[in-house]
Amino acid sequence: MPKFILDGKELEFTQGQTIIEAAKQHGMDIPHFCWHPSLSVSGNCRMCLVEIEKMPKLVIACSTIAAGGMVVHTKSQKTIEARNAVMEFFLINHPLDCPICDEAGECKLQDYAYQHSVGESRFVDEKNHKDKRVLLGPYVMFDAERCISCSRCIRFCDEIAKDPELTFIKRGDRVTIVTYPGEELDNPYSLNTTDICPVGALTSRDFRFHARVWDMSETKSICIGCSRGCNSEIWVRNNEVLRITPRYNEEVNNFWMCDHGRVNTYKFINAEDRVNGPFIRKNGSLVQESWENAFSLTAEKLKSFNKDEIVFIASPFATCEDNYVFKKFAQSVIGSKHLNFMRHSDQNFGDDILRRDDVTPNTLGCELLGVSPNKSGLNLEGIFNGIKQKKIKAAYLIEDDIISANPELENILADLDLFIVHSSNFNRTTSLADIVFPSATYAEKNGTFVNFQGRVQRIRPAVASIDVDRAVDGLSLSRLDKFGTKFDRWAEKNKRDAKATWKILTLLSAFFNYKFKYNLAEDVFDEISNSIKAFNKLDYDVIGEKGILLENIDKEQSIKV
Ligand code: SF4
Ligand code: SF4
Ligand code: FES
Repeated sequence: MPKFILDGKELEFTQGQTIIEAAKQHGMDIPHFCWHPSLSVSGNCRMCLVEIEKMPKLVIACSTIAAGGMVVHTKSQKTIEARNAVMEFFLINHPLDCPICDEAGECKLQDYAYQHSVGESRFVDEKNHKDKRVLLGPYVMFDAERCISCSRCIRFCDEIAKDPELTFIKRGDRVTIVTYPGEELDNPYSLNTTDICPVGALTSRDFRFHARVWDMSETKSICIGCSRGCNSEIWVRNNEVLRITPRYNEEVNNFWMCDHGRVNTYKFINAEDRVNGPFIRKNGSLVQESWENAFSLTAEKLKSFNKDEIVFIASPFATCEDNYVFKKFAQSVIGSKHLNFMRHSDQNFGDDILRRDDVTPNTLGCELLGVSPNKSGLNLEGIFNGIKQKKIKAAYLIEDDIISANPELENILADLDLFIVHSSNFNRTTSLADIVFPSATYAEKNGTFVNFQGRVQRIRPAVASIDVDRAVDGLSLSRLDKFGTKFDRWAEKNKRDAKATWKILTLLSAFFNYKFKYNLAEDVFDEISNSIKAFNKLDYDVIGEKGILLENIDKEQSIKV
């Protein structure tokens, strides 16, 4: 491999790599604004100027190809002066909005002003003012004064979203970005522009002015919006999810997420209609009940039916751990043969970028776990026919609002003598239930999903519940969490009384004199790994932060999902 020298260190590089790419590969960061590893090179910010020995002028590291024997300096007097000058130039007209800017705390301009700037301005004239609130599309707001004209947002639309919507107009210090006449910034990936904008010029209308970034905790998770399973970060303040951002994983979603995944997959967690504690139907209404009473009543009612009269409907929205324990409860504790799950596909959702028609996070997980009827058991269609024919009298459903997905089921399920549901929120399905257990959302528990590629990926609790405490369960902490006490307004808001489905079933099985020995989601996963071939030799540490591709699976099956 050829080598070049960067700041006295010999670095290997691959032919064709630019200096900035080769440096990054070795963990060395050359300051930059306009360069982004997934976009074409535009070379217009000049922040990455470096000195190369035997070259008369400074060059930009983002477009200069590394060559064997090259000697590059990023900390020489010449480069430091050049960077200072570039920063001074950027800051001439910059409004210095930091105290009210959403980007503050994660802004490249702010960080570089500390690291690469002289600390004062020589500019004494009135700054050039521009529009501060330009609605570019349904989700993105533009502040023209903050824009440093790096063109990342324009290139993102052209190259990644494949929907050219933005362009520069005017010249010099009047230059600004606009959408093409008659166009909006409304492609399904538009909010990625707010992540890659190196300053606070593009902000998310869903998040702006909700919180300072340093007041939120940040937890690695997985999007539940479709079977891609984009890697994400959940941002929480005061036990409320305020935003979801993408997390880099080159095998799954690169740097990106779609707007649906970002905006529509967390509001139900904060919603007022959360199921808080178990509920039992009394005189036609659902009434809150203690866990003890709810378990004993559930056991008593389930025992009153013949095992062939009870059906179990699992969920591709629930984790592998939840589905596995549900299957075990159905087959070992109750002895039912009737087990299946509903698929959710939206032919208008998928595209050839990230989005998939399967709008659940764990369909392949359900398949690999064998969430399907035994030989003589009923599949989903058989289950609904059985209810119609009054052969099936009781149904146990987890984490799926099947009536909203298929309103025709309302009349069918109304015929049941007993309908038990695990749900995080009250919905059309719970309105028919006799017993509702409050299931923790994907942001309140540990677990795994298997995406359409056959990659098993972990979710972690980001929001505390009564069951999972922030202080003792190792949840990520924000500055406010660390220093708040229970007497502070921001510290204790909305801790729901909800539990992971696997935990509810573990506790319920004791009422059948059956002991499931799971204390943690990890204990369930260890059993899955020991008993199901596709998951052999895996544990939470092996899965790690970026997930792992299952090897022992039928590849055709993973592509179909
Ligand atoms: S809005 Fe942001 S990403 Fe777009 S050109 Fe301006 S600074 Fe760059
Ligand atoms: S592509 Fe699918 S998994 Fe990714 S962000 Fe969108 S909905 Fe979520
Ligand atoms: S990062 Fe090289 S010119 Fe902008």
